[in-house]
Amino acid sequence: MTMKRPITVALDGYSSTGKSTMARQLAKVTGYRYVDSGAMYRAVTLYAMRNGMIAADDTLDIPALVAALPMISIDFEVNGDRQSTLLNGENVEREIRTLEVSAHVSPVAAVPQVRHALVAMQQAMGRDGGIVMDGRDIGTTVFPHAELKVFVTASAETRARRRFDELKAKGEDINYDDVLANVVSRDHIDETRAESPLRKADDAVLLDNSELTVDEQNKILLDLFNSRINGD
Ligand code: DC
Repeated sequence: MTMKRPITVALDGYSSTGKSTMARQLAKVTGYRYVDSGAMYRAVTLYAMRNGMIAADDTLDIPALVAALPMISIDFEVNGDRQSTLLNGENVEREIRTLEVSAHVSPVAAVPQVRHALVAMQQAMGRDGGIVMDGRDIGTTVFPHAELKVFVTASAETRARRRFDELKAKGEDINYDDVLANVVSRDHIDETRAESPLRKADDAVLLDNSELTVDEQNKILLDLFNSRINGD
């Protein structure tokens, strides 16, 4: 088998579409590096929370956060199939997935200087290709020249149901209508933010997985990958 030139794969889309499951699986079967860009925004949010930059009324001290950016380093540590996010060398993988971080991440991700710093880190990680990155602005801003771009979507109801099942399985006391309202409101914030709003790149393949199983969506992505690798 001849080695093909490594390509860049950008997966963007709405929250709770299962795009990170797809991205991780593709990275696994291709041997590519997987980068969860959302984890980076979550790690910066955790830093802001820990350093008193988010007040009790949820206001974010943007100047303090911007001044602290040079002090924040984010890396990923791979152990077997799992990947952990490191904030200044500390494994924060579990902490960045809490509801508290989820609730504070949107305003942090809307700060232009935060985005510029993280986009620069993401571009450095993908300099040599051979990477699968998922997020909101990967195909539009981070890797506008990615060989394969996929924009993943599913109906708000489908995504709310998935999120509801996930939270219920974790033992959270929640109701479906609240989860649906949160999905709809996060979509709105993601789509209307001034800096790098969530939007499908013109050359991205649209994949609606409302009616697809995990195996079916993985196969579609792998087929797309193979056709790009072969220069189709
Ligand atoms: O994918 P996620 O839910 O872990 O992302 C966390 C937050 O970060 C989400 O509110 C959107 C934001 N985000 C972003 O603005 N740009 C990215 N490339 C990835 C995530």
